[in-house]
Amino acid sequence: MRHLLTGFEFSQDEYLEILETAAAMKAEPHKYTEAIKGKSGAIMFEKPSLRTRTTFELAFYRLGGHGVYLDLQNGELGKRETIADYARNLCRWVDCLVGRVYSQKTLEELAAYGSVPVINALSDLYHPAQAMADYLTVKEHLGKLQNVKLAYLGDGNNVTNSLCVAGAILGVDVTCFCPQGSGPDVQIFTQASELARQHGCKLCVDSDPSHVRNFDVLYTDTWVSMGDNTPLESVKKKYMPYQVNQQLVDASGAQIVLHCLPAHRNYEITDEVMDGSKSVVFDEAENRLHIHMSLLSKLI
Ligand code: CP
Ligand code: NVA
Repeated sequence: MRHLLTGFEFSQDEYLEILETAAAMKAEPHKYTEAIKGKSGAIMFEKPSLRTRTTFELAFYRLGGHGVYLDLQNGELGKRETIADYARNLCRWVDCLVGRVYSQKTLEELAAYGSVPVINALSDLYHPAQAMADYLTVKEHLGKLQNVKLAYLGDGNNVTNSLCVAGAILGVDVTCFCPQGSGPDVQIFTQASELARQHGCKLCVDSDPSHVRNFDVLYTDTWVSMGDNTPLESVKKKYMPYQVNQQLVDASGAQIVLHCLPAHRNYEITDEVMDGSKSVVFDEAENRLHIHMSLLSKLI
C-alpha cells in the first residue's frame, strides 16, 4: 500500500507514469470509467477549497467510484474523537483517505492508524498533487521537463516546498525567489536538493528578483496562506518586489506563467499577466482533475 503524504514517496519513473496516465485519461476519459468501480474514498477538508474538492469528487465519479465529502471546517480532526479512532472507523468503509489539513502530522497519524492509502490534498508543509498537476501543465506546454527552468516568486510555502520536491525528482531546475527568511522549508529543501543532484538538475534560493532572467516558467502563489490570519495588506511592501507583473514576465524570458489559485489579483500577480497570453493557470486548474484521476487509479 502506498500513500502520497509528502511527494518524496515516488521515484522519477513513478512520477512520469502518474503524469502519463493523467495525460491518457485527459485524452480518452471514456476508457477509464470503471477503473475503480465500486471503490470509495473519504474527502476530508479542514480548510476551504474550490479546485481540490471539486476535482477529487469528480475524479472518484469519473473512474466509477464514489467520494464522500466530510466537512471539517468547523472542527479540526481529533476534536470529536481521536484521529486514530477516526481513521479506524473510516477504513472499515472506504478504500482511500484524501485530507486537507492544518498539520502534516494529522495526515501521518491517519496513515499510521488507518489501513488504506492517504493522499495529501494540502497541509502546512506540502501540496504534492498540486505540484504534479503543475508539472503536467509545464510538460504539455513546453514538451519536456528535464532542465526546464522554473522561477517561483513570493512566499516560500507548502506549494513552494512541493514544487521543489517534485521538480527535483522530475529533473526541473527550480529557483525560489523569496524575501530573506521567507524561503522554502529548509529541511525539505535540503532533502529535495540531494534528489535534484541525483536527477541532473538543481534547486536554488535567491532573494533578488532582478535575477529573474532566462527562465522558461514563472510561478507564484498567495503571500498569505490559509490558516495565517496576517492581513494581506500588511505584507504588501515585503512581497511587492516579487509580484509577477508584465515587466517581470518580459525580463524573465518565460514562455508560460502558472499560479495554483486562488489568485489575489494585483497582489502576487497582475490582471494583465493573469489574463495575458502566457498565463496557463486554467489549464493548470483543469489538470488537477486528470492528476487526481491518475493518482486514485494508482493508489486504490
Ligand atoms: N490550488 C488549490 O488547491 O485550490 P483550492 O484551494 O481551491 O483547492
Ligand atoms: N499556499 C496556499 C495554497 C492554496 C492552494 C495556501 O496554503 O493557502
